[in-house]
Amino acid sequence: MRVILVDKKLKRLGILTGGGDCPGLNAVIRAVVKTSILQYSLEVVGVEDGYAGLIENRFRPLNLNDVGGIISQGGTILGTSNRDNPFHYAETEGEKTIFKDVSEKVLKNLQNHGLEAIITVGGDGTLTVAKQLSEKGVSVIGVPKTIDNDISATDVSFGFDSALTTATEAIDKLNSTAISHHRVIVMETMGRYAGWIALEAGMAGGAEVILIPEIPYKIEIICDKIKERSYRGKRFSIVVIAEGAKPAGGEMTVQRIVAESTDQIRLGGVGHKLAQEIETRTQLETRVTVLGHLQRGGSPTPFDRILGTRFGVSAVHLAVQGNFGQMVALRGIKIIPVPLSEAVSTLRRVSPECELIKASKSVGICFGDE
Ligand code: F6P
Repeated sequence: MRVILVDKKLKRLGILTGGGDCPGLNAVIRAVVKTSILQYSLEVVGVEDGYAGLIENRFRPLNLNDVGGIISQGGTILGTSNRDNPFHYAETEGEKTIFKDVSEKVLKNLQNHGLEAIITVGGDGTLTVAKQLSEKGVSVIGVPKTIDNDISATDVSFGFDSALTTATEAIDKLNSTAISHHRVIVMETMGRYAGWIALEAGMAGGAEVILIPEIPYKIEIICDKIKERSYRGKRFSIVVIAEGAKPAGGEMTVQRIVAESTDQIRLGGVGHKLAQEIETRTQLETRVTVLGHLQRGGSPTPFDRILGTRFGVSAVHLAVQGNFGQMVALRGIKIIPVPLSEAVSTLRRVSPECELIKASKSVGICFGDE
Protein backbone atom coordinates (compact mmCIF):
# COMPACT_ATOMS: atom_id res chain seq x y z
CA MET A 1 0.00 0.00 0.00
CA ARG A 2 1.35 3.46 -0.89
CA VAL A 3 0.21 6.66 0.79
CA ILE A 4 1.92 8.97 -1.72
CA LEU A 5 -0.48 11.09 -3.73
CA VAL A 6 0.96 11.81 -7.13
CA ASP A 7 -0.19 14.95 -9.00
CA LYS A 8 -2.64 15.79 -6.24
CA LYS A 9 -2.59 18.96 -4.20
CA LEU A 10 -1.62 18.40 -0.56
CA LYS A 11 -4.55 19.07 1.79
CA ARG A 12 -3.79 17.44 5.09
CA LEU A 13 -0.41 17.19 6.78
CA GLY A 14 0.55 15.20 9.89
CA ILE A 15 3.27 15.91 12.45
CA LEU A 16 4.81 13.80 15.19
CA THR A 17 7.63 14.29 17.67
CA GLY A 18 9.65 11.16 18.48
CA GLY A 19 12.63 10.15 20.65
CA GLY A 20 13.76 12.02 23.75
CA ASP A 21 12.15 15.41 24.32
CA CYS A 22 14.24 18.54 24.00
CA PRO A 23 13.79 22.31 24.05
CA GLY A 24 12.57 23.65 20.69
CA LEU A 25 10.08 20.91 19.76
CA ASN A 26 7.15 23.22 20.37
CA ALA A 27 8.76 25.90 18.20
CA VAL A 28 8.80 23.41 15.30
CA ILE A 29 5.17 22.33 15.89
CA ARG A 30 4.09 25.97 16.02
CA ALA A 31 5.94 26.81 12.79
CA VAL A 32 4.48 23.79 10.98
CA VAL A 33 0.91 24.59 12.07
CA LYS A 34 1.17 28.32 11.34
CA THR A 35 2.88 27.95 7.96
CA SER A 36 0.50 25.19 6.86
CA ILE A 37 -2.61 27.17 7.77
CA LEU A 38 -1.53 30.74 7.01
CA GLN A 39 0.48 30.13 3.85
CA TYR A 40 -1.18 27.09 2.29
CA SER A 41 -4.62 26.64 3.94
CA LEU A 42 -3.71 23.05 4.85
CA GLU A 43 -5.24 21.03 7.67
CA VAL A 44 -2.74 19.85 10.25
CA VAL A 45 -3.11 16.72 12.36
CA GLY A 46 -0.91 15.99 15.36
CA VAL A 47 0.07 12.42 16.21
CA GLU A 48 0.37 11.74 19.94
CA ASP A 49 3.49 10.27 21.56
CA GLY A 50 5.57 9.79 18.42
CA TYR A 51 5.34 6.45 16.60
CA ALA A 52 3.22 5.07 19.47
CA GLY A 53 0.34 7.30 18.27
CA LEU A 54 0.82 6.25 14.66
CA ILE A 55 0.57 2.60 15.66
CA GLU A 56 -2.22 3.04 18.23
CA ASN A 57 -4.28 5.42 16.08
CA ARG A 58 -4.03 8.50 18.32
CA PHE A 59 -4.43 11.62 16.16
CA ARG A 60 -5.81 15.09 16.89
CA PRO A 61 -6.38 18.21 14.78
CA LEU A 62 -4.02 21.12 15.37
CA ASN A 63 -5.29 24.68 14.89
CA LEU A 64 -3.77 28.13 15.36
CA ASN A 65 -5.12 28.33 18.91
CA ASP A 66 -3.39 25.08 19.87
CA VAL A 67 0.04 26.56 19.21
CA GLY A 68 -0.45 30.00 20.75
CA GLY A 69 2.23 30.82 23.32
CA ILE A 70 4.10 27.53 23.04
CA ILE A 71 7.33 28.80 21.45
CA SER A 72 8.90 29.39 24.86
CA GLN A 73 7.76 26.08 26.37
CA GLY A 74 10.06 23.07 26.77
CA GLY A 75 8.91 19.53 25.94
CA THR A 76 6.33 18.81 23.26
CA ILE A 77 2.58 19.45 23.33
CA LEU A 78 2.15 16.24 21.29
CA GLY A 79 4.02 13.98 23.70
CA THR A 80 6.82 11.68 22.60
CA SER A 81 8.21 8.18 23.00
CA ASN A 82 11.65 6.71 22.42
CA ARG A 83 10.39 3.14 22.64
CA ASP A 84 7.82 2.45 19.94
CA ASN A 85 9.33 1.36 16.63
CA PRO A 86 6.71 0.24 14.04
CA PHE A 87 9.26 -2.16 12.54
CA HIS A 88 10.16 -3.68 15.94
CA TYR A 89 7.10 -3.19 18.14
CA ALA A 90 6.87 -4.91 21.53
CA GLU A 91 3.70 -6.92 22.19
CA THR A 92 2.97 -9.18 25.14
CA GLU A 93 1.89 -12.73 24.43
CA GLY A 94 1.22 -14.56 27.71
CA GLU A 95 4.36 -14.17 29.79
CA LYS A 96 6.50 -13.29 26.80
CA THR A 97 7.32 -10.05 25.00
CA ILE A 98 7.61 -10.52 21.26
CA PHE A 99 8.60 -7.99 18.63
CA LYS A 100 6.49 -7.49 15.49
CA ASP A 101 6.61 -5.43 12.30
CA VAL A 102 3.38 -3.37 12.53
CA SER A 103 4.28 -0.89 9.81
CA GLU A 104 1.27 -1.93 7.65
CA LYS A 105 -0.98 -0.78 10.51
CA VAL A 106 0.75 2.63 10.40
CA LEU A 107 0.04 2.93 6.67
CA LYS A 108 -3.64 2.07 7.22
CA ASN A 109 -3.97 4.60 10.06
CA LEU A 110 -2.41 7.35 7.95
CA GLN A 111 -4.78 6.55 5.11
CA ASN A 112 -7.86 6.37 7.37
CA HIS A 113 -7.08 9.88 8.63
CA GLY A 114 -6.55 11.18 5.11
CA LEU A 115 -2.96 12.08 5.92
CA GLU A 116 -1.11 12.54 2.66
CA ALA A 117 2.22 13.43 4.23
CA ILE A 118 3.84 13.47 7.63
CA ILE A 119 6.59 15.53 9.24
CA THR A 120 8.61 13.52 11.77
CA VAL A 121 10.66 15.51 14.23
CA GLY A 122 13.31 13.45 15.95
CA GLY A 123 16.86 12.24 16.39
CA ASP A 124 18.78 9.38 14.87
CA GLY A 125 16.31 6.62 15.89
CA THR A 126 13.17 8.51 14.84
CA LEU A 127 14.72 9.56 11.52
CA THR A 128 15.87 6.00 10.78
CA VAL A 129 12.25 4.84 11.17
CA ALA A 130 11.18 7.82 9.01
CA LYS A 131 13.55 6.61 6.31
CA GLN A 132 12.11 3.08 6.53
CA LEU A 133 8.55 4.46 6.29
CA SER A 134 9.61 6.54 3.30
CA GLU A 135 10.96 3.37 1.63
CA LYS A 136 7.51 1.84 2.17
CA GLY A 137 5.95 4.69 0.25
CA VAL A 138 4.93 7.09 3.02
CA SER A 139 5.48 10.75 2.15
CA VAL A 140 7.81 11.84 4.95
CA ILE A 141 9.87 14.92 5.77
CA GLY A 142 12.35 14.74 8.68
CA VAL A 143 13.36 17.49 11.10
CA PRO A 144 16.57 16.95 13.11
CA LYS A 145 16.15 17.23 16.88
CA THR A 146 18.63 16.21 19.55
CA ILE A 147 20.57 17.62 22.44
CA ASP A 148 23.39 15.23 21.45
CA ASN A 149 24.03 17.13 18.18
CA ASP A 150 25.05 13.85 16.55
CA ILE A 151 23.12 14.05 13.26
CA SER A 152 25.80 14.35 10.61
CA ALA A 153 23.84 15.95 7.78
CA THR A 154 23.15 19.18 9.66
CA ASP A 155 25.67 21.59 11.16
CA VAL A 156 23.56 21.66 14.29
CA SER A 157 20.26 20.18 15.47
CA PHE A 158 17.86 22.21 17.56
CA GLY A 159 17.93 21.38 21.28
CA PHE A 160 21.72 21.34 21.46
CA ASP A 161 22.12 25.03 22.22
CA SER A 162 19.62 24.84 25.10
CA ALA A 163 21.34 21.76 26.59
CA LEU A 164 24.70 23.48 26.20
CA THR A 165 23.40 26.55 28.01
CA THR A 166 22.06 24.45 30.89
CA ALA A 167 25.33 22.51 31.19
CA THR A 168 27.43 25.70 31.10
CA GLU A 169 25.29 27.35 33.78
CA ALA A 170 25.68 24.21 35.89
CA ILE A 171 29.49 24.46 35.69
CA ASP A 172 29.30 28.14 36.70
CA LYS A 173 27.31 27.11 39.78
CA LEU A 174 29.46 24.09 40.64
CA ASN A 175 32.53 26.34 40.57
CA SER A 176 31.33 28.06 43.76
CA THR A 177 31.40 24.85 45.80
CA ALA A 178 34.57 23.56 44.14
CA ILE A 179 36.43 26.78 45.00
CA SER A 180 34.98 27.26 48.50
CA HIS A 181 35.52 23.67 49.63
CA HIS A 182 38.76 23.04 47.69
CA ARG A 183 37.15 20.05 46.00
CA VAL A 184 37.27 18.23 42.72
CA ILE A 185 33.83 18.22 41.12
CA VAL A 186 33.03 15.75 38.38
CA MET A 187 30.05 16.73 36.22
CA GLU A 188 28.55 14.05 33.95
CA THR A 189 26.69 15.19 30.85
CA MET A 190 24.49 13.32 28.35
CA GLY A 191 25.31 13.02 24.65
CA ARG A 192 25.37 9.25 23.95
CA TYR A 193 28.34 8.43 21.68
CA ALA A 194 29.21 12.07 20.90
CA GLY A 195 31.05 14.46 23.20
CA TRP A 196 29.59 17.77 21.97
CA ILE A 197 27.77 18.81 25.15
CA ALA A 198 30.74 17.97 27.42
CA LEU A 199 33.27 19.59 25.08
CA GLU A 200 31.47 22.86 24.49
CA ALA A 201 30.09 23.27 28.02
CA GLY A 202 33.54 22.43 29.42
CA MET A 203 35.15 25.05 27.20
CA ALA A 204 32.51 27.68 28.00
CA GLY A 205 32.55 26.93 31.73
CA GLY A 206 36.34 26.93 32.03
CA ALA A 207 36.69 23.28 33.08
CA GLU A 208 40.17 21.92 33.77
CA VAL A 209 39.48 18.43 32.39
CA ILE A 210 37.05 17.37 29.64
CA LEU A 211 36.51 13.69 28.85
CA ILE A 212 34.60 12.65 25.74
CA PRO A 213 33.83 9.32 24.01
CA GLU A 214 36.01 10.20 21.03
CA ILE A 215 39.20 10.50 23.15
CA PRO A 216 39.70 7.53 25.54
CA TYR A 217 41.29 8.77 28.78
CA LYS A 218 44.12 7.62 31.03
CA ILE A 219 43.37 8.11 34.73
CA GLU A 220 47.05 8.87 35.60
CA ILE A 221 47.08 11.82 33.20
CA ILE A 222 43.90 13.28 34.71
CA CYS A 223 45.22 12.89 38.27
CA ASP A 224 48.60 14.40 37.36
CA LYS A 225 46.78 17.47 36.02
CA ILE A 226 44.66 17.80 39.19
CA LYS A 227 47.68 17.29 41.50
CA GLU A 228 49.81 19.77 39.55
CA ARG A 229 47.06 22.39 40.05
CA SER A 230 46.86 21.56 43.74
CA TYR A 231 50.67 21.98 44.19
CA ARG A 232 50.49 25.46 42.75
CA GLY A 233 47.67 26.46 45.09
CA LYS A 234 44.62 25.73 42.94
CA ARG A 235 43.04 23.20 45.26
CA PHE A 236 39.89 22.75 43.18
CA SER A 237 39.20 21.32 39.73
CA ILE A 238 36.17 20.88 37.51
CA VAL A 239 36.10 17.70 35.45
CA VAL A 240 33.38 17.43 32.79
CA ILE A 241 32.78 13.90 31.56
CA ALA A 242 30.39 12.81 28.81
CA GLU A 243 28.27 9.76 29.64
CA GLY A 244 29.90 7.90 26.74
CA ALA A 245 33.51 8.57 27.80
CA LYS A 246 35.66 5.53 28.47
CA PRO A 247 39.17 4.75 29.72
CA ALA A 248 41.80 3.74 27.15
CA GLY A 249 41.38 0.02 26.56
CA GLY A 250 38.07 0.03 28.52
CA GLU A 251 34.38 0.11 27.73
CA MET A 252 31.56 2.67 28.01
CA THR A 253 29.46 2.48 31.19
CA VAL A 254 26.03 1.07 30.37
CA GLN A 255 23.26 1.89 32.81
CA ARG A 256 20.45 -0.19 31.30
CA ILE A 257 19.14 -1.84 28.15
CA VAL A 258 15.73 -0.81 26.79
CA ALA A 259 14.84 -3.71 24.48
CA GLU A 260 11.94 -2.00 22.69
CA SER A 261 13.84 1.21 21.93
CA THR A 262 15.34 2.17 18.57
CA ASP A 263 18.60 2.73 20.48
CA GLN A 264 18.59 0.08 23.19
CA ILE A 265 21.64 1.15 25.19
CA ARG A 266 21.28 3.75 27.95
CA LEU A 267 24.62 5.10 29.13
CA GLY A 268 25.33 6.60 32.56
CA GLY A 269 27.41 6.16 35.71
CA VAL A 270 30.91 6.84 34.42
CA GLY A 271 31.12 10.06 36.49
CA HIS A 272 30.82 8.14 39.78
CA LYS A 273 33.46 5.61 38.75
CA LEU A 274 35.85 8.37 37.75
CA ALA A 275 35.28 10.41 40.93
CA GLN A 276 36.12 7.43 43.12
CA GLU A 277 39.38 6.84 41.24
CA ILE A 278 40.33 10.52 41.42
CA GLU A 279 39.68 10.69 45.18
CA THR A 280 41.67 7.51 45.87
CA ARG A 281 44.62 8.56 43.75
CA THR A 282 44.83 12.29 44.65
CA GLN A 283 43.43 12.23 48.21
CA LEU A 284 41.41 15.31 47.26
CA GLU A 285 37.77 15.42 48.31
CA THR A 286 35.68 14.74 45.21
CA ARG A 287 31.95 15.05 44.45
CA VAL A 288 29.80 14.14 41.47
CA THR A 289 26.89 15.89 39.76
CA VAL A 290 25.00 13.99 37.07
CA LEU A 291 23.07 16.55 35.03
CA GLY A 292 20.77 13.96 33.45
CA HIS A 293 17.41 15.11 32.10
CA LEU A 294 17.91 18.69 33.29
CA GLN A 295 19.73 19.04 29.95
CA ARG A 296 16.54 18.17 28.05
CA GLY A 297 14.23 20.41 30.03
CA GLY A 298 13.19 24.01 30.31
CA SER A 299 12.61 26.88 27.96
CA PRO A 300 14.54 26.78 24.64
CA THR A 301 17.24 29.38 24.01
CA PRO A 302 16.51 32.04 21.37
CA PHE A 303 18.83 30.14 18.99
CA ASP A 304 16.76 26.95 19.32
CA ARG A 305 13.45 28.81 18.98
CA ILE A 306 14.66 30.40 15.76
CA LEU A 307 16.25 27.23 14.34
CA GLY A 308 13.13 25.21 15.24
CA THR A 309 10.96 27.80 13.50
CA ARG A 310 13.14 27.81 10.37
CA PHE A 311 13.16 23.99 10.24
CA GLY A 312 9.36 23.82 10.68
CA VAL A 313 8.69 26.40 7.96
CA SER A 314 11.10 24.69 5.51
CA ALA A 315 9.60 21.26 6.21
CA VAL A 316 6.15 22.53 5.20
CA HIS A 317 7.55 24.13 2.01
CA LEU A 318 9.14 20.78 1.08
CA ALA A 319 5.90 18.92 1.75
CA VAL A 320 3.93 21.31 -0.45
CA GLN A 321 6.52 20.94 -3.22
CA GLY A 322 6.18 17.14 -2.91
CA ASN A 323 9.89 16.83 -2.11
CA PHE A 324 9.57 13.84 0.23
CA GLY A 325 12.12 11.47 1.77
CA GLN A 326 14.16 14.53 2.81
CA MET A 327 15.35 16.02 6.08
CA VAL A 328 15.75 19.76 6.57
CA ALA A 329 19.30 20.69 7.58
CA LEU A 330 21.29 23.76 8.55
CA ARG A 331 24.39 24.26 6.40
CA GLY A 332 26.20 27.49 7.09
CA ILE A 333 23.45 30.09 7.13
CA LYS A 334 21.05 28.17 4.86
CA ILE A 335 18.35 25.59 5.46
CA ILE A 336 18.57 22.90 2.79
CA PRO A 337 16.96 19.49 2.11
CA VAL A 338 19.13 16.37 2.40
CA PRO A 339 17.97 12.81 1.67
CA LEU A 340 16.91 10.96 4.83
CA SER A 341 19.23 8.11 3.83
CA GLU A 342 22.20 10.50 3.99
CA ALA A 343 20.97 12.05 7.24
CA VAL A 344 21.02 8.79 9.21
CA SER A 345 24.03 7.08 7.63
CA THR A 346 26.72 8.18 10.10
CA LEU A 347 26.83 9.83 13.52
CA ARG A 348 28.34 13.29 13.81
CA ARG A 349 31.07 12.89 16.42
CA VAL A 350 33.90 15.12 17.65
CA SER A 351 37.10 14.69 15.68
CA PRO A 352 40.10 14.58 18.08
CA GLU A 353 41.95 16.75 15.53
CA CYS A 354 39.26 19.42 15.23
CA GLU A 355 39.86 23.08 15.94
CA LEU A 356 37.73 23.04 19.12
CA ILE A 357 39.97 20.38 20.66
CA LYS A 358 43.13 22.20 19.55
CA ALA A 359 41.89 25.48 21.01
CA SER A 360 40.99 23.76 24.28
CA LYS A 361 44.41 22.18 24.54
CA SER A 362 46.03 25.55 23.82
CA VAL A 363 44.39 26.98 26.92
CA GLY A 364 45.53 24.06 29.04
CA ILE A 365 42.44 21.85 29.13
CA CYS A 366 43.31 18.20 29.72
CA PHE A 367 41.50 15.48 27.72
CA GLY A 368 43.20 12.64 29.58
CA ASP A 369 45.22 11.63 26.55
CA GLU A 370 48.51 13.54 26.88
O1 F6P B 1 19.45 11.24 22.83
C1 F6P B 1 19.09 12.10 23.87
C2 F6P B 1 19.43 11.51 25.22
O2 F6P B 1 19.10 12.45 26.21
C3 F6P B 1 20.88 11.05 25.37
O3 F6P B 1 21.77 12.10 25.58
C4 F6P B 1 20.75 10.09 26.53
O4 F6P B 1 21.78 9.13 26.48
C5 F6P B 1 19.41 9.45 26.30
O5 F6P B 1 18.67 10.33 25.46
C6 F6P B 1 18.62 9.18 27.56
O6 F6P B 1 17.43 8.53 27.24
P1 F6P B 1 16.24 8.28 28.27
O7 F6P B 1 15.46 9.56 28.38
O8 F6P B 1 15.46 7.17 27.65
O9 F6P B 1 16.85 7.91 29.58
